Amino acid sequence: MKKKVLIIGIILIVISLFSFFLFFNNNKSDDKSINDLLKEKGYSDSEVSFILDKVSKEDYDYVLEFGYDKSLINILSSSEYDENKFTDYIKYYMKNKDSNINDIITIINSDYDLDNYPASSLLASLVKEKYYINGNVARYLDYGNNHDVDFKKVIGIVNSKADLGFYSESLDSNLGANNLVLVNKFYHLKDDYMPSDLVSLGGQYNRGANSRMRKEAADAFMKMVDAAKLDNIILYNASAFRSYDYQVNLYNRYIKRDGKAAADKYSARPGYSEHQTGLCSDLNIIDDSFDGTDEANWLKDNAYKYGFILRFPKGKEDITGYKYEPWHYRYVGLDAAKIIYEDDITLEEYYAYYIEKL
Ligand code: DAL
Ligand code: ZN
Repeated sequence: MKKKVLIIGIILIVISLFSFFLFFNNNKSDDKSINDLLKEKGYSDSEVSFILDKVSKEDYDYVLEFGYDKSLINILSSSEYDENKFTDYIKYYMKNKDSNINDIITIINSDYDLDNYPASSLLASLVKEKYYINGNVARYLDYGNNHDVDFKKVIGIVNSKADLGFYSESLDSNLGANNLVLVNKFYHLKDDYMPSDLVSLGGQYNRGANSRMRKEAADAFMKMVDAAKLDNIILYNASAFRSYDYQVNLYNRYIKRDGKAAADKYSARPGYSEHQTGLCSDLNIIDDSFDGTDEANWLKDNAYKYGFILRFPKGKEDITGYKYEPWHYRYVGLDAAKIIYEDDITLEEYYAYYIEKL
């Protein structure tokens, strides 16, 4: 009996040892074969060990299929290389053999679905931009390839729809966005719209005939004026809420004076003026002489701390559709104002990314 157990034991040990041997040997021969196979493809010894170091085992077959192509080494050498995206790099590279490898890496690393778009340095630069929206990629490329502007501008113009042409679409403003409602050359308010919570700015806060603002905006406005006063800066409203009918008269007067094309550069058409929202104010002097004054400079640097933004900045005319207006400030609330100020964007760009995209 004891003998039988001993024999069975020995047989079991022999079988286990044999299996272990087979297992390790097999693995070794696998490693050996990929080494040899890669060398057969033309890679040098150091390239082979570099490849095997960078590519995970599951992708070995893929490397062999890829064959001898020095770009493989370039892909793996990139500081942005991510082992988990290996097959995506190779697939995209196969379609874009003449493109810069770093651009290919950047585009794939962006995680956007861009398989159908040829790799280019423009595309690689666009996906790195903070306000890039994947749904707009075709228009970005179209605009960027045809205009000599920087990448942030391409994104800004397209996100704000300005590439489609001002007043080319007539969309209803989303009043549900409350303080962030967008009224511009694409989004408009109905002729009978009037905010229900308008209050009048009085005393030191106002010197204009259009003295009303929505309650929250008016409170923030007064807070801002009080803070400015402590810095010896005197601010006041010159024109805040304007009704649709008021804008009809104003706009028609401007057309008579300067013609429609010129008027459109500085005056909104009725329904398209954010003065109808009750969320903005023209402060102090409503003409170009206000620019560069202590008051204008104070506003530029501090308005965002009270939830206001410079609505039509210099250099953003192609996004807002309006000439620089140093006097026109729009209430958007503290959070949005801070982002718009710090990222140097317009309400158009903010709205497209943080409201419309969601
Ligand atoms: N001046 C601004 C654009 C307006 O008319 O609303
Ligand atoms: Zn204004």
